[in-house]
Amino acid sequence: MTTARITVDSDAVVAPLNRRIFGSFVEHLGRCVYDGIYEPGHPTANEDGFRLDVVDLVRELGSTTVRYPGGNFVSGFRWEDSVGPREKRPVRRDLAWHALESNQVGVDEFARWLKLTGSELMMAVNLGTRGIEAALDLLEYCNHPSGTALSDQRIANGTAEPHDIRMWCLGNEMDGPWQTGYMTADDYGKIAARTAQAMKTADKTLELVVCGSSGSMMPTFGDWERTVLEHAYDHVDYISCHAYYQERGGDLDSYLASSLDMQYFIETVVATADHVGNKLRSSKKIKLSFDEWNIWYLDEHRESDEVNDQWRYAPRQLEDVYSVADAVVLGNLLITLLRNHDRVASASLAQLVNVIAPIMTEPGGDAWRQTTFFPFSVTSRLARGTVLRPRIDVGTYATAVYGDAPLVDAVVTADDEGGAVFLVNRSRTESIEVSIDVTALGAGAIAEATTLWDEDVYARNTLEDQERVGLKPLEGASLADGVLTVTLPPVSWSAIALS
Ligand code: AHR
Repeated sequence: MTTARITVDSDAVVAPLNRRIFGSFVEHLGRCVYDGIYEPGHPTANEDGFRLDVVDLVRELGSTTVRYPGGNFVSGFRWEDSVGPREKRPVRRDLAWHALESNQVGVDEFARWLKLTGSELMMAVNLGTRGIEAALDLLEYCNHPSGTALSDQRIANGTAEPHDIRMWCLGNEMDGPWQTGYMTADDYGKIAARTAQAMKTADKTLELVVCGSSGSMMPTFGDWERTVLEHAYDHVDYISCHAYYQERGGDLDSYLASSLDMQYFIETVVATADHVGNKLRSSKKIKLSFDEWNIWYLDEHRESDEVNDQWRYAPRQLEDVYSVADAVVLGNLLITLLRNHDRVASASLAQLVNVIAPIMTEPGGDAWRQTTFFPFSVTSRLARGTVLRPRIDVGTYATAVYGDAPLVDAVVTADDEGGAVFLVNRSRTESIEVSIDVTALGAGAIAEATTLWDEDVYARNTLEDQERVGLKPLEGASLADGVLTVTLPPVSWSAIALS
C-alpha cells in the first residue's frame, strides 16, 4: 500500500483560528433568498417568513460571517428599496441575473435571519451604479445608534439597535466585464479609496475589503491588485479573492488537485500586496478575504439558458448538485484556506442555499445536505485553537493541469484540550496509509475519526435520495506512542479529532 508520513510541530504555527474563515454568502440570486431561506407559506416558516428547517441546517453547517446581498446583484442594488413597510417596496429588475427583485427580504429582515443562525453580517456596498453617498447612507442606516435621519428611519422601521456591521465590501468583482458598472483598475482604485476614506471618517474601526480579481484566470490578474492597492492601501484592510473550480473534460486527476491553483492564487496576491506595502514603506499588512470560493460547474451553466431574457422571480439558477469528488475538492480547498490563515483572515463559501450551495430546499417541501455540506460542517465544528502547518512526506501523481501533485494534503489545529487533523487522499485508485506524528499535541485518544468517500465518486444527494452520501467512520484509525495511523480511502476527505 502507498504510505505517507506527516509530522506535527507545535512551533509550526500559522495563526490563531479566526472563525471568520468559515464564512458563507447569501446573494439575491436564483432561489438563494426567495424559496431558499425565505418562504412565507412553508410549514416551518416563522413570522418573518424564514424557514426554520433551513436555519437548523445553517447552524449545523457552522458557517459564521455571511456576505450579503451580492455578488453581481449588489452592483445594481438600491438599499433604500429593501427597507420599510414591505407593501411599499418596489419591484426592480436585477440586471445581473435577469430576474425580478421583489425586495420582500431586505437589510433589516436579513439581519434578523442572521441572529437566528448565530452569524455575523458582512455587507457589500454598490460601487457599480452608485457610489460614496449611497455607501455612507447605508452605513448610517445600519450602524448609527439614533438621532440622525437614517438611524431614526431604521428605528421607525422596527430595528431599535444598530446592526453594528464590522466588515464591508467595496463593491463586487469590479474587474469583470459582466459586472454592472465594471471599471479599469485605475478607476476602481480611485473610487474604492475615496469610498473607504469616507466610511472610515464615519467609523475608523470598520474593516473594509477592496475588490481583488474575479479569478486567477483574469487577464488583469496581479496588475489589478497592484494598481488598486496603490490607490487604496492606506484605507482598506483586506483585498478579496474569488475562485471557483470544476471538473473539466473528465480530467478527475487535475480536478482533485484544484487546491494547488488556490495556493498559487493566495501566494500571488500576498506577494503583490506586500510589494505595494513595501513600496509605500507601510508597516501595515493587507489581509486576504477569500469571499467567494466553491465548486461551480460554470461551463455547463454558461451553455444552459437558465439566465435568459425573461424577467422572472427567483428562477432556478446555478443549482449544482455535488458529487463525492466535489466534496473532497471542497474539503481540500478549506484545508488550503486554513494553511494560509496567517494572511487569509476571512473567507466565504459561495453560496449558502440552493445556488451553488451546501444546502438545498424544495418549495413547500424538504431541506437537505449536499455532499459538500459535510467537510465544511465537520471542519467548522472540530477546528479550534491554533492552525498548525504539518510537514507532509508523500509521493506525487501526474496531472495534466498542475504537473506532479502530492497525493495527500493536510492541515492541523490544536488547543490545550487536543487537536484535529484534516486530510485528503487525491489518488483515484490507491488507499494510502498515513502515519502522523502527533507527539507535539500531547494527545491521548482519538475522539472522532470520520471520512467522506464512496465506491462511486460521482454519487450525489438529490431530492429523491437525500441521504445517499454521508459521513462514514474512518475504520482502523489508531493512536499509539504519539503516532496516529490512518488509512485514507481513494478520493476521500477525512477528519480525526484527538483529545
Ligand atoms: O457566486 C455567484 C457569482 O459569482 C457572484 O454573484 C459573483 O460575484 C461571482 O461571479
